[in-house]
Amino acid sequence: MDRRAFLAAGSVTAAAPLLGWPGLSAAAAEPTDGLASQLPVNFWSDGLGLGPAQYARQLQAAVDAGGWSPDNYSNGGLVADIERAFAQRLGKPAAVYLPSGTLANHLAVRTLARGDRRVLVQADSHLYNDSGDGAATLSGLNLVPLAEGRATLTVEDVAPWIERAARGRVPNPVGVISVESPVRRLDHAMADLAQTERLSTFARDRGIRLHLDGARLFNLPLHTGRSVADIAALFDTVYVSLWKHFNGTAGAVLAGDEATIAGLSHMRRMFGASLPQAWPTLALVPTHLARYEDDYAKSWAAADSVIARLEASGRFHARKLENGTSRFFLSAPGADLDALSGRAAQRGVLLPGGPPEGTELAMQVNPSLLRWSPDRVADVLLASLSA
Ligand SMILES: Cc1ncc(COP(=O)(O)O)c(C=O)c1O
Repeated sequence: MDRRAFLAAGSVTAAAPLLGWPGLSAAAAEPTDGLASQLPVNFWSDGLGLGPAQYARQLQAAVDAGGWSPDNYSNGGLVADIERAFAQRLGKPAAVYLPSGTLANHLAVRTLARGDRRVLVQADSHLYNDSGDGAATLSGLNLVPLAEGRATLTVEDVAPWIERAARGRVPNPVGVISVESPVRRLDHAMADLAQTERLSTFARDRGIRLHLDGARLFNLPLHTGRSVADIAALFDTVYVSLWKHFNGTAGAVLAGDEATIAGLSHMRRMFGASLPQAWPTLALVPTHLARYEDDYAKSWAAADSVIARLEASGRFHARKLENGTSRFFLSAPGADLDALSGRAAQRGVLLPGGPPEGTELAMQVNPSLLRWSPDRVADVLLASLSA
């Protein structure tokens, strides 16, 4: 499905009434009184990139709207509402809130592995690179990194390792295959869905469990034409971040069947991760869950309009990845990108920080683009080419 068809289908708004927060459907979204157009547009965050003042204002709006109650040690109240809502959207019977995605991935593979301690992962995954070998140190799991440099883990990648584990001198079967999609370290490229379906069938035929690091899963429907539940169905457990797309300040949900999720709230506490009050970190999540997929689709439509204006000027060039999701690359031949970024920031357009990768800026598409018209964003970028 292309983006226009997706927008026309009004995919997500239809699901909003199911979520059960009567007061929150409009509350705590972006300001509607013209103030949003005074906030910056940024090309670096996954969500709105709210600063303290904006977050505090939206938190107050969520409190004023009511319709929810605080949690107690991460149990009940808003936390339980969010667990139910994500389980429903992901088509899974149960979900548990965890205060970080790092812990969600770890507890997922720990629980799914049972006694089968070999876990196959993408070499470029967060689980393999950014968790300090936590699954090995804390849960005795042996992570085997595969498919380096590629977003898609294929049957051909895993089959020899499953075979090798079965043929070892000491039997040590593969218990879990973990897939991250989109892959943050590969510029948010997504795993090929047909290959992932093959992988899922192959694993299930052999009794191997499957976990999805879907921190940014809610970007995939726009690029695949498939719902988050369709994609989640290929896996036994699915983690989704609450602070990337849904503007929490932290947090994750892990969804799966009842037997897998049962008991994880106790394991959460065992890992010292049951926040006494999680609600201040989560109060914006319901509103943004209800609207995110539509907002993301509109954000890409806006980004495409900006790109068209910039390319028509002959001063900028944009590049997209073939299996890309939320990122495109922007170059401005002959321009000093640091100076361009500085001037654009003064005018309210925040470009990705840090040293640009070569001669390109790694631009992130997010709903902050909806604060301004595409023409206004393009005007600022064009004006920022010169002092
Ligand atoms: C793909 C992916 N998985 C997991 C995580 C970990 O999430 P958290 O920072 O909530 O621990 C991140 C965070 O950046 C991520 O990008």
